[in-house]
Amino acid sequence: MAERVEIFEVGPRDGLQNETRMIPVEEKIALVDCLSGAGFRRIEVASFVSPKWVPQMADGAQVLAGITRAPGVSYAALTPNMRGLEAALAAKADEVAIFGAASEGFSKANINATIAESLERFRPVAAAARAAGVRVRGYISCVVECPYDGAVAPGKVAEVAAELDAMGCYEISLGDTIGRGRPEAIGAMLEAVLGVIPAARLAGHYHDTGGRALENIEVSLEKGLRVFDGAVGGLGGCPYAPGAAGNVATEAVNARLLALGYETGLDPEVLERAAAMARAMRGA
Ligand code: HMG
Ligand code: MG
Repeated sequence: MAERVEIFEVGPRDGLQNETRMIPVEEKIALVDCLSGAGFRRIEVASFVSPKWVPQMADGAQVLAGITRAPGVSYAALTPNMRGLEAALAAKADEVAIFGAASEGFSKANINATIAESLERFRPVAAAARAAGVRVRGYISCVVECPYDGAVAPGKVAEVAAELDAMGCYEISLGDTIGRGRPEAIGAMLEAVLGVIPAARLAGHYHDTGGRALENIEVSLEKGLRVFDGAVGGLGGCPYAPGAAGNVATEAVNARLLALGYETGLDPEVLERAAAMARAMRGA
């Protein structure tokens, strides 16, 4: 039997957060409902952050209240602080994510904190989530390059990963936020992180700005990673990462994984439908 690789769908959050048109909540709900029928086990649907920082994500509670939850699917939300966690728990997110960075410039621009301050802020969030029986995923942004600070040392990524691990994150997603990572750089970064966290608890989160996300996924597969984040329609970017184009498109990752002989459990027709919806939401 073919080996399973999981795609974690982040389109409704990472894909849409950067859109300037305020997308009606009904459209977001329709996209999530379509994705729920595609075979994903995890879909990131909301972000409980400051609406001044990311206005597009202000309706996260309404999205979580409006979707039809499919059995066996975990609906995830980003929670930068205790206030975000309380909102996510009230909205019954199945899992939450804390999100830090491996570069100081991005950490400051994205969450207005140094790396050390952000880790202090995350500690009680992770503890409270786990106490509430909600599992916590950890993100690290700028794992190879930062739009403000340039190249990022692999050792720094490993250091932040170890901190998130110590907080009880069940999985750590490694973000090439601006999509400039080359396969060699991704490989070197993974070597360092694998020194502290096993491959089974890592995910690759590669933006496709430089057109190398699929190659970066292949390098990561060689290193043992079996979870990758994708956004249907290749939507997205990060409002605090200038020039960051879309996440790698879920449908492209799916096609590549199948071509490499892996199975993903996803329905390509539903994926295409969701991708078309996502592109239409952007007006593309
Ligand atoms: P701050 O300004 O330092 O914090 O922001 P603050 O505590 O002074 O709060 C500022 C205002 O936000 C206050 O409102 C708070 O009440 C409010 P005011 O008094 O001015 O009216 N506030 C909140 N409102 C709703 N929900 C909350 C919340 N917290 C505070 N949870 C903060 C610090 C972290 C809040 C801010 O910087 C923020 O929201 N940042 C989020 C940025 C973001 O969402 N970026 C995109 C997601 S990360 C990403 O895309 C990367 C990833 O995909 C991986 C990759 O690709 O690398 C994950
Ligand atoms: Mg991202």
